[in-house]
Amino acid sequence: MRPETNSDVSAEAVETFMEKVLGDYAGANAFFMAAIGDRLGLFKDLAARGPATSPELASRTGLHERYLREWLAGMTAAGYLSYQPATGRYTLPAEHAPVLAEEAGRFFLGCAFFDYSTNYGPTFHRLLGAFRDGGGVPQDLFGTEMAEAIDRFTAPWCEHLLVPEWLPAMPDVLAKLHAGATVADVGCGRGRAVITLAQAFPACSVVGYDVYQPAVGVAQGRAAAAGLSDRVRFEVRDVVEGLPQRYDVITTFDVVHDAADPRGLLRAIHDSLEPDGRYLCVEITCAERPEDNVGPLSTIMYGLSLAYCMTVSLADGGAGLGTLGLPEAKLTELASETGFSQVRRVPIEDPFNTLYVLTP
Ligand SMILES: C[S@@+](CC[C@H](N)C(=O)[O-])C[C@H]1O[C@@H](n2cnc3c(N)ncnc32)[C@H](O)[C@@H]1O
Repeated sequence: MRPETNSDVSAEAVETFMEKVLGDYAGANAFFMAAIGDRLGLFKDLAARGPATSPELASRTGLHERYLREWLAGMTAAGYLSYQPATGRYTLPAEHAPVLAEEAGRFFLGCAFFDYSTNYGPTFHRLLGAFRDGGGVPQDLFGTEMAEAIDRFTAPWCEHLLVPEWLPAMPDVLAKLHAGATVADVGCGRGRAVITLAQAFPACSVVGYDVYQPAVGVAQGRAAAAGLSDRVRFEVRDVVEGLPQRYDVITTFDVVHDAADPRGLLRAIHDSLEPDGRYLCVEITCAERPEDNVGPLSTIMYGLSLAYCMTVSLADGGAGLGTLGLPEAKLTELASETGFSQVRRVPIEDPFNTLYVLTP
């Protein structure tokens, strides 16, 4: 067998891989700059008020022209904006606006979510420490911006998929909601799914539980602003310790894989369902084997896992399943251990989400 020395590797093959890494580096920098544009409302300004030179954008936004000039040129280099040399103006192309500027729209990506430098920068050295010493980065260290980023990133699923596309694919759950169900959303974050369900199904009463107080505070404000306080309630609660009553429908949206105690969570949900109740579990789409979790989406999800989902769970001494750690077979195993009689995969195709209906 030949030893694998550098002399066995062609310079061409090395250069091909180097180009790939440079492309990834460019992507990371594009997202860094996009996060700046997102947070400062620059994409939204360009979408609403049209093309601008850097002085025009400075006077429209009150921001410093020199910074804007650099940002506009950088976003043009990345292909997010286009530049017209004749006028010196920069344009957000119409087909880019839904992704970058239409908050909670079907195609909105909420670029700040993926920006490691702003969301994860402060916790990066702590994460390196966890590689060395174990443990993890606790949720509190991410601050409220992370909860906001998750809420903005998952908003399109709630606003555009949950009611028109997902629920019709699970007739038993839909029938309960139409009839007027008691509903609990576990790990409700800032409450978007709770409010969407309450608005779509006026006969239901819906409660959201989350262990993270700042998110629950925002959710309560949203429910009041939507005039739903009579049918919607939010509570700070570690659901592993149990729920205070039984429900016809319980939901989780991307909660089980980053829970510290996924078994405890599933057991509490099982024990709080009415005998003919249904549990809708929305989880990240993933394959069983690492060799099948490859490509851009899996890369993003493994990054999010290291930076947030897995490490937050490990910080609590938890299971640390990871963002891609709950494929169908694992959920089925946990569900059977915690008393569920059936796990049914909902027949929808979604690159991000896989949906299951569990029966107690
Ligand atoms: C990834 S976030 C998802 C938030 C929201 N469902 C969404 O889709 O935007 C997971 C949420 O689950 C909450 N969570 C995790 N373990 C929990 C537990 N044992 N009890 C209550 N909430 C929990 C976290 O605080 C966090 O807000």
